[in-house]
Amino acid sequence: HGTSKINDKGHLEIGGCDTTDLAREYGTPLYVVDEALVRQRAREYVEAFRASGLKFQVAYASKAFSVLAMCVIAEQEGLSLDVVSDGELYTALQAGFPAGRIHFHGNNKTPEEINMALDAEIGCFVVDNFTELRLLNALAGDKGKKVNILLRITPGVEAHTHDYISTGQEDSKFGFDLQGGAAFQAVEEATGLKHLHLLGVHSHIGSQIFEVEGFRMAADKVCGFALDVRAKLNYTFQVINLGGGFGIRYTNDDTPLQVAEYIKAITDSVRTNFTKADYPLPEIWVEPGRSIVGDAGTTLYTVGTSKDIPGVRKYVSVDGGMTDNPRPALYQSQYEAVLANRAGEPAAETVSIAGKCCESGDMLIWDLELPQAKSGDLLAVFCTGAYNYAMASNYNRIRRPAVVFVRDGAADVAVKRETLSDIIAGDVIPERLRKSAL
Ligand code: LLP
Repeated sequence: HGTSKINDKGHLEIGGCDTTDLAREYGTPLYVVDEALVRQRAREYVEAFRASGLKFQVAYASKAFSVLAMCVIAEQEGLSLDVVSDGELYTALQAGFPAGRIHFHGNNKTPEEINMALDAEIGCFVVDNFTELRLLNALAGDKGKKVNILLRITPGVEAHTHDYISTGQEDSKFGFDLQGGAAFQAVEEATGLKHLHLLGVHSHIGSQIFEVEGFRMAADKVCGFALDVRAKLNYTFQVINLGGGFGIRYTNDDTPLQVAEYIKAITDSVRTNFTKADYPLPEIWVEPGRSIVGDAGTTLYTVGTSKDIPGVRKYVSVDGGMTDNPRPALYQSQYEAVLANRAGEPAAETVSIAGKCCESGDMLIWDLELPQAKSGDLLAVFCTGAYNYAMASNYNRIRRPAVVFVRDGAADVAVKRETLSDIIAGDVIPERLRKSAL
């Protein structure tokens, strides 16, 4: 997929770069990002919305992969940006991302984070609960500002890949409950607060979703709510944000739709619902994270030791693991991989890929078909662009890998590999402790 292919040396090539060259030059583990594929995904969203004729914003959910270079690409592609912390906001601002296109999410924004976002004059706060609603109004008031908000509502639709349920989701830490009436109460209160301008509502129904039904159900609920609000409060929403969650293909078991299919289903559904109710067509916002960057990322590892337990299993260990990709350990996520330096060779054995962390749960892939892997081979694990670097840790004091962006045969470092001195950069030995053991 993307610009990946096997070159005439039998090596995996991405963005015109031979992965064995990348490994030699930048070391492993290494995150490789196919820049053209990221841009292609961003354009698929923008084009699908343009085709709908509706007003829109595609906000890249930067939690999936937030680094300066990625914010620059999002900006260049005309996306907006969803941030959920001062760190993501800072990254976006330092990248020169236009503040007016930044949306601030999260269920517990601190007063410091809110003030930082107010000073930066971001485009919209997605307000999650009553405490935040009042706090934001007060802090905006202190600065003499009036800010745009969406209210995050819990629509009572939850989608997980193929399963979606339409009830029982009120027990969530996020958002104002629709069924229980909190959402309505929040609109009533928000419209009365002087320093807030209510644009509309937001709903996010889940992640790695393969079907459009959940989005349709959410659109129905949101429209029903908008009508209720118009009838009772004579207030019209300008914006409907349907969140992210569009699935990608990690393995053959995953059957996502094309980006254009998800967006068409959403825009059709919003158009139908609102037109039928004679409601002015709102602007539609979405927040894809995984589907923008997920399949553009590949992690390169060097194979180290192996352990064969005859008749049971062969473990092949690589020089990274749950520190650069915690998803298998956290979510039992499945990945596909190849030997990048022998990509043309047929599979010869079934092995399980172990990370180097000191715990048994640090397994990247169970039962992978590979050519006979030996020490020094290069393993490429696909679809690691989303929630990998973003969720990487220094567990076992392992250094975070570098990130390189590849395009047209050239590679550029977007994040430097951490050094051993980075590992202790924040450590302090208290003087008192040094002086006496007691
Ligand atoms: N909007 C909101 C409000 C969200 O909570 C999320 C993801 C997104 C958008 C983007 O969803 P996406 O398009 O990426 O599915 N760490 C997990 C995923 C957590 C998703 C959290 N929220 C993983 O690695 O699978």
